[in-house]
Amino acid sequence: MSAPDLRVRIGSLGLANPVLAASGTFGYGDELAHVVDPARLGAVITKTVTVAPRPGNPAPRIAESAAGMLNSIGLENVGLARFRAEKVPKLASLGATIVASIGGETADELATLLGTLAGEPAIAAFEVNFSCPNVNEGGARYWTDARRLEHTLRSLRRLTDKPLVAKLSPDVTSIAELAVACEAGGADALTAVNTFVALSVDLATGRSRINRVTGGLSGAAIKPLALARCYECVQAVRIPVIGSGGALTARDALEFLAIGAVAVQIGTASFVRPRAVLDVVEGVAAAIAAAGADSVAAWRASLRLAAEASHAGGPALVASR
Ligand SMILES: Cc1cc2nc3c(=O)[nH]c(=O)nc-3n(C[C@H](O)[C@H](O)[C@H](O)COP(=O)(O)O)c2cc1C
Repeated sequence: MSAPDLRVRIGSLGLANPVLAASGTFGYGDELAHVVDPARLGAVITKTVTVAPRPGNPAPRIAESAAGMLNSIGLENVGLARFRAEKVPKLASLGATIVASIGGETADELATLLGTLAGEPAIAAFEVNFSCPNVNEGGARYWTDARRLEHTLRSLRRLTDKPLVAKLSPDVTSIAELAVACEAGGADALTAVNTFVALSVDLATGRSRINRVTGGLSGAAIKPLALARCYECVQAVRIPVIGSGGALTARDALEFLAIGAVAVQIGTASFVRPRAVLDVVEGVAAAIAAAGADSVAAWRASLRLAAEASHAGGPALVASR
């Protein structure tokens, strides 16, 4: 059986496969390079970069939960100058397809980041982090205003022809409304979703396990929640939607692909198993081949046929795109 063609398109960007390393969970791609060859991934999404370096939030900023983890890193990063001078060339030398995640407290800060990085040949696309739950300014709450999102994307759109992916928070009343606003502003794709705001209580001390009180919950616990938000976005817009949230295995990734996500990000799994992203690439390829399909689209079509033939369970979810 020949290997299936796993290529997918996100706007003008072609990816070798639909499995991406999620921002903030894969370092800058070089720390894990001895375990995972970043060139074999669909793309590496780098840790969100801000104009100035950030030390992040005070400890404790990580807490385990029953089926996941809370983090309150607070966008710790090296800042724009070092990101551009050191991190991008290093990751590019490893052959990775680089999606740069940018974060800002205002539309102007995002414009500065994009204006500076847009001309970097090694950067294939940008993910705009509109969804960090762990910062006081410019975090998920600030970016839940649909008009602000649309205007900001419209101004960013003028700065680059490279794909712009808007990463959304799940902690909103209607993610579909924000998805539509991003599409109207000119986003090429969406990422659904970032972490969920969460709290962990230490009964021995009567304190939160996170210094900033709440953190963002990620990992297995959020997969069904993330799938529901992702599905809502897929239904609401025509642009591609990238799934994120609780995908640990190839089967998890296939669930996102089945509901119409164009690609899937692997995040927390990399902390548990550093090789997780590569395992998912290989597992997705094996599952698609085992189903007798030669591409992601053909596999989805075969699933659609299976849904039509089956009368058990709820409605068929397999997206037609
Ligand atoms: C420690 C940690 C740091 C993260 N840092 C970022 C970040 O800098 N930018 C961002 O957009 N998302 C960040 N995320 C969110 C992940 O990219 C991902 O969207 C989220 O964790 C859900 O996916 P998962 O359950 O597979 O981890 C971070 C997540 C974790 C656990």
